[in-house]
Amino acid sequence: MIIIGCSASKDLAKKISKKLKKPYSELFVSKFPDNELYVRFKTNVKNKTVVLVQSLFEPNEKIIEILFAAYTAKDLGAKKLVLVAPYLAYMRQDKRFHPSGCISSEVIAKLFRVFDELITIDPHLHRHHSLRKLFKIKSKKLSANSLIADYIKKHFKNSIILGPDEESYQWAKKVAEKIKSHAIVLKKRRYTSRKVRIKIKGMNLKGKNIVVVDDIISTGHTMMETVKEAKHLGAKKIECVCVHGIFAENAYEKLKKLGVKRIVSTNTIPNKAAKIDVSGLIADSLK
Ligand code: R5P
Repeated sequence: MIIIGCSASKDLAKKISKKLKKPYSELFVSKFPDNELYVRFKTNVKNKTVVLVQSLFEPNEKIIEILFAAYTAKDLGAKKLVLVAPYLAYMRQDKRFHPSGCISSEVIAKLFRVFDELITIDPHLHRHHSLRKLFKIKSKKLSANSLIADYIKKHFKNSIILGPDEESYQWAKKVAEKIKSHAIVLKKRRYTSRKVRIKIKGMNLKGKNIVVVDDIISTGHTMMETVKEAKHLGAKKIECVCVHGIFAENAYEKLKKLGVKRIVSTNTIPNKAAKIDVSGLIADSLK
């Protein structure tokens, strides 16, 4: 087995290879003047199980990169191709939201059939429940819930867990169960990618410590609306925790400006909130 660090996940790939005591190599990636990509392996992949580690935030170029790498590895005689995509993009577009719109998750699933196996962490599966059924290749869906619960238990005291919308129950409820706390899952209405409304009805959060738990912070509007409502209802201290910290459009800074004490994510995506390490989780699943 060889662990290959692709452009977005070199640090994580190195950690995984260390934990597994398996060799590490970086994918060489460069750009032509017209922005076309060029990739090359720096190691021999013939007859090997090749594990490509690539997180798919800001995904478009990163997807081309791993597809080029995958086809090249096959051409060069790799025995088995495993894609570790700690953050798997495009899963939220899982139905035809507009009568003539693209169901992006299904197209991605078809493209990724070049791999023999897919490993990812907490994919946003809402309408599709099984990765295996969607991708039609061997797939492992890992969860960072236990790691998040351990972190909250260690660092945040006497907190109530809030899930900002119905889709967040998979994280908020599970994390709350693990730390033997209480979870409240709210209702969200999304108008556009940057406009959501969240209402917390009939609840008194006066003097309470709140941890908002969700899978993804992208523009941060889901978290921001939840934080505003919780503040309005008297919450004392508010912290935000997510699996995948995309933090598009300065979401991290905007949340801080709202008075959020701590913002924490896992390191599926490299960012300044990445305090929870998932390399052990991935290494275990590759054993
Ligand atoms: C969607 O339901 C997800 O669970 C997240 O709540 C959502 O993706 C967060 O997006 P944003 O940060 O842009 O509001």
